[in-house]
Amino acid sequence: MDLYEYQARDLFSAHDVPVLQGIVATNPEQAKQAAEKINSDLFVVKAQVKTGGRGKAGGVKLAKSPAEVAEKAEEILGLDIKGHTVKTIMVAEGADIAEEYYFSILLDRTKRRYLAMCSKEGGVEIETLAAEQPEKLVRKNFSPLSGLTNDIARDIAKEAGFSDEETEQLVPVFRKLYEVYEQEDAQLVEVNPLVKTDDGRIIALDGKVSLDDNALFRHGDHANLEDVEAADPLERRAKELDLNYVKLDGSVGVIGNGAGLVMSTLDVTAYAGEEFGSKPKPANFLDIGGGANAKVMANGLEVIFSDEQVKSVFVNVFGGITACDEVANGIVQANKILADQGIQAKPMVVRLDGNNAELGRKILSEADLAHVEQASTMDEAARRAAELADQA
Ligand SMILES: Nc1ncnc2c1ncn2[C@@H]1O[C@H](COP(=O)(O)OP(=O)(O)OP(=O)(O)O)[C@@H](O)[C@H]1O
Ligand SMILES: [Mg+2]
Repeated sequence: MDLYEYQARDLFSAHDVPVLQGIVATNPEQAKQAAEKINSDLFVVKAQVKTGGRGKAGGVKLAKSPAEVAEKAEEILGLDIKGHTVKTIMVAEGADIAEEYYFSILLDRTKRRYLAMCSKEGGVEIETLAAEQPEKLVRKNFSPLSGLTNDIARDIAKEAGFSDEETEQLVPVFRKLYEVYEQEDAQLVEVNPLVKTDDGRIIALDGKVSLDDNALFRHGDHANLEDVEAADPLERRAKELDLNYVKLDGSVGVIGNGAGLVMSTLDVTAYAGEEFGSKPKPANFLDIGGGANAKVMANGLEVIFSDEQVKSVFVNVFGGITACDEVANGIVQANKILADQGIQAKPMVVRLDGNNAELGRKILSEADLAHVEQASTMDEAARRAAELADQA
């Protein structure tokens, strides 16, 4: 989960990383009041969108008075930054910047280490610096077991070319940023720019934090950080139902057991769709895992049937520990549950194979559901599901 800058700022502040005051606003009047509260002679109004390059797109503007803050807020609110409409801004205290640095910590999966990166030349697009002047970007791997020790932090600062005095100032800031990274279960903590002010203070002026969703259960308070409004409504519903669901753009709903099988089902479905005029594609990823019982199946079908783009559904199950007869019973019962809820069913093609496939197919045939067909192979089922979507 990526955080907004203001949320990152709040996390930094909670861990004593030096930041400036910042207050969010959603209209110019609120922005003006925020500035009055901050009480400074320099402010910055910043678009809160989950994408980079805000400054270049006109989403970061300086202002000298609360009235000017309101003007800048008016200009920034509603801006489109790389497809993200600005609905929220942060009014922050302005800094007198002497120098802009870069610092980040992230997970380096290939090395099975953490990676800290640092440069004396921050503020600019770090990707450009990394590509054109890689020697100016210090990269240091370190073990999650040791964490970012004083020694490692000092090495990083020195290698980046900071003076001894600057290094001593930076080390505790790096360590606190590492504390954010570790204690909040982040996958990325990036500060660009980390600045030195005219009066010699080090301050994190911008923050990008990405939290590990798999660790959310360890942080009750992180649930508040979630951007429920921005989430796709179907994905939100799927999450409430505890389903492994990802919305895609096509018209063939896909359900399978096991992420690998579902991934290949998406491929096979997309390939089969090529044959038809409207070129039907998968409408979603949905892995019902081992728990293909009636309730899980009903939940999955509820989400898929509620997707207006869906014209047909392909249920692809390979019985392993979950036997096909259980899945077949699940499908039959799920259809009853959904009918009782008044949810309109869509044409379904079911392919059952593996453990107890025969029995499963028999159960489905005997149930004689009007909108359910069976196919004996994955290719055949994909083709038929694509055809049904094309005809709809
Ligand atoms: N509080 C502040 N006071 C003075 N100047 C600021 C302040 N915050 C940001 N700036 C200036 O604006 C520039 C851009 O700000 P920031 O890094 O927050 O946005 P960005 O880099 O454009 O966006 P992103 O990091 O999302 O790509 C900074 O490099 C800095 O020069
Ligand atoms: Mg930045």
